[in-house]
Parts: sequence; C-alpha cells; structure tokens
Amino acid sequence: MSILLSSGKEIPIEMHKIRIVQKVRLAPARERLRAIEEAGYNTFLLRSRDIFLDMLTDSGTNAMTDYQQASMMHADDAYAGSESFYRLKDAVQEVFGLEHVLPCHQGRAAEHLLAKAFVKPGHIVPMNYHFTTTRAHFELAGGTVLELYTPEALNTQSTAPFKGNMDLGRLGEAIDKHGAQNVSFVRMEATTNLLGGQPFSLGNLKEVKALVGPLGIPLVVDGSLISENAYFIKQREPGYAQASIKEIIREIMSVADLLYLSGRKSCSVRGGMIATNRRDLDEAIRPWLPVYEGFFTYGGMSSREIEAMAVGMREMTELEVAGSAADAIKYFVGRCLEEGIPVVTPAGGLACHVDAARLIPHVPQAQYPAGALAAAVFIASGIRGMERGSVSMDRDRDGKDVPSDLELVRLAVPRRIYTMSHYEYAVDRLKWIVSHAELVGGLEFDEEPPVLRFFAGRMRPLGDWGSRLAAAFERDFGAGA
Ligand code: F0G
Repeated sequence: MSILLSSGKEIPIEMHKIRIVQKVRLAPARERLRAIEEAGYNTFLLRSRDIFLDMLTDSGTNAMTDYQQASMMHADDAYAGSESFYRLKDAVQEVFGLEHVLPCHQGRAAEHLLAKAFVKPGHIVPMNYHFTTTRAHFELAGGTVLELYTPEALNTQSTAPFKGNMDLGRLGEAIDKHGAQNVSFVRMEATTNLLGGQPFSLGNLKEVKALVGPLGIPLVVDGSLISENAYFIKQREPGYAQASIKEIIREIMSVADLLYLSGRKSCSVRGGMIATNRRDLDEAIRPWLPVYEGFFTYGGMSSREIEAMAVGMREMTELEVAGSAADAIKYFVGRCLEEGIPVVTPAGGLACHVDAARLIPHVPQAQYPAGALAAAVFIASGIRGMERGSVSMDRDRDGKDVPSDLELVRLAVPRRIYTMSHYEYAVDRLKWIVSHAELVGGLEFDEEPPVLRFFAGRMRPLGDWGSRLAAAFERDFGAGA
C-alpha cells in the first residue's frame, strides 16, 4: 500500500509488523571485490554471507505470514491422499475457480510437464515474452518460441500501462504461417518478468482468446506473478477500479484454458502447480506427474509448503498483499528517476530494473554490459542484483551469442523483506555508480555451460576495472564502507 503524506509525497507503507528478523552484514568494498572475483563476476555464485541486500530475486525469498507458518504445523505427510493436498485444492477452487490441480516442485517443473505433454518437434509456442526456463524447456522439446510483444514492450522509457500485451496482428500472422495444428498453445505471462515485470490487460487477454479459441489452440497463463498483474489491472485498466483482486484473477481464469505457476512468487512459498477446468488438458499432463515430480497429491513439494501455499494463495488476493511489492517498486523506481538513474518505466511488479545500455553505453553488447553492471553494483553496495541481458541468453544452434533485446540489471523486491531505508541506500549507491560510470568495463566468459549459462558461468573483467572501481569507492567513502 502507498500512503499520502501531508507534504503531498506518497510513500509505500507496510501493512504488517515485523516480528522475526534475520541479521545481515555489510562487508567493506575490498571484501566485496574479493567475493565477486571469487564468484567469477557472476552474482549467482556469491555466498549469502557476503551479501548485504539480496535483490537477486523475489523467488522463494518473500517473508511468510504468521498464518502461513502456522499452517505448516498441521501438514499431512501421507505419501498418497494427503489432506494437505485437498486443502490446496480447495484454495485453488476458491481463488482461481479451477478444478483439476497438479502440484509440482516449482514453476519450471510445470513448464517441463507442459513441454512433455504438448510441445512436439516443429511446433511453435507463441507468447508475450519468454522466461529463461520456459524457453529452455520448450526448445529442448523441439519447439520454437515466438515472442509476439508489442513494439512498446522494449521501450525502457515508456508510460504504456500494459507492456506485457501480445501483438494480435503478429499472432494471427504466425498462426497463418505455421498452421493452427502446429501451435502447442499460446502462453501469456502475467507481470512479464523479462520485460521488467510488466502486466498484460484483461482486454488483450480476451482478444488473444477470441483469436485462438475458435482454432482449438489452448491459452495458457503463467500466473507466477498473477496477483501483481491483477493489481495493475485494477489500477490501470478502465472499468476495473472497483473490482477486487480476486474478481480480477477469476476473470483472467475464465478466459484462460490452463494456469501454471511458480508458487515462489505471488504465493510466497516454494512450490508450483498446474490447474485447469479442461479435463482433456489435465489428462494429457497427469500421467507424467508421478514420473517426473511425485505422486499426484504432493508432486515433489513438501506437505508443509503445500499447506503454506494454500494460505499464501488466499492471502495474495488481499489488496495490501497484492500491492506490497508493486508499491515499494514504484517508490524505488521513482527515486531512481529523481536521481537520474536510468531505470525501466513504468515501474513494474517485480523489481527495479536498471538499464545498463543507458548507464554504461560505452560497454558494447558483446562485452555483457548488464553482467558488468550487476558486478559493479555489488562492488559499490553489497547489493546482489541479477543480470537480465545477453548473459541470460544461451547461444544459438550455431554457437553464436544471441544479443538480448534489453540489457537490464534487476534489483528484485522480495515481498515484505526490505524497507524504505534499504531502497534509499540502493538509490544512493546507484547514483554513485552513475557518476563513476566510465570506470565500469566489460566482461568475457571464462567458463560457459551450454544451457542456462547465466546460472553457473564464470566471467572475468576486461582489464582491472573491478579493482579500480573498488579503489574509487574507498576514496569517497573510506576503507570501512
Ligand atoms: N515463470 C515465471 C514468470 C518466472 O518468473 C519463473 C521464475 C518461472 C516461471 C520458473 O519458476 O523458478 O519456480 O522454477 N522466476 C525466478 C526469478 C527464477 O528469479 O525471476 P521456478
């Protein structure tokens, strides 16, 4: 939630009390430099103990509520027929209005099952935008991912309210070209992650459905960030201001044929699931569940997490929960703009995305500017962000680097974890980097895994810019900062 101060300024306000805390440490710049060197300039390879603010992701890192914690105590660990599963099934029915539920250990497991059941060699899978694991699974199954975003989606300085919308003209053309029988399904991702946490509108979703429904092509919604998308629809789409988050989620589901999600985001747990009212879709996936995940009533999740997911799913439909990250991000992004830090606008529902292409334009895309900036942010602040640029793209079938559409450093906002002073600190250190941008250089790969290379790849700086950046920081702030 945001609250208006008497000065006219709006600030995010926590609608909760913080009753359990976890200690963090701010290591000095020299130590941070050593840590990022040991991590091969890859923030994924840092150790938690060296990190001050962990803004790598909001995945599995949200603060749970007292009710979620309490629900874990009555988990039923039965291998088959667990009561915990039936409580989750009730929550899915209540929140989404969906009957068939397939639990799985996390979002990418759902993608794997969908790929197994529906993506055949030669198929296309149109979507508003890919997510890394989505693309990997659908391509490994022999499919081709088509990203049918609107031109506005890649404009990082925009005021467009729904940059996650699909371009219907391009969708129609793709189906005409490949034939409806070669389309596995159409996937719409809520609060589109790699576009900077940007939502789709209900109007656009309905138009997509009107196009693909009569052709027998299923419409799949990736609802990992569904409550944030619903929050934006309420705020930005005409006609929905009075609707509740739950009503909006229900309306999205009434259009979709199948929902899958990572429970690690909006639901604030660790897990995943697929749900649908279409028996044919459920039956196509169901046989694979015990093969890859676990029995139908746990699907690789612990019963404790299943219980907490049922609670988290209901809680995410509360306005202040749905808006907890979005309102903090709005503040964070707004402050960055005030200080001249290039960030993606409008503010999305996942993170503050810093635009490396604009912040360090002297670093060419072949030298991974977003990766370099993520390392620089860590050296200057102890804040761990995530590279969301060309390092996050795997090479093509000919072994060539695939330049990413955007070169972003994502500073994720896990729900209910950080406060305004943390965001102010982040803004201040980003501002310092802006004023020392010329010190930041490029990276090259040392070790490069063939799939999802951003997770485990190791890089090195071109030149000694890392240590020069740390030295400049020490000169300005002292050796202990
Ligand atoms: N879909 C979306 C939109 C996601 O953001 C993610 C994960 C997944 C699917 C895969 O789910 O991690 O539970 O297997 N996003 C995380 C992130 C990893 O950091 O943005 P998962």
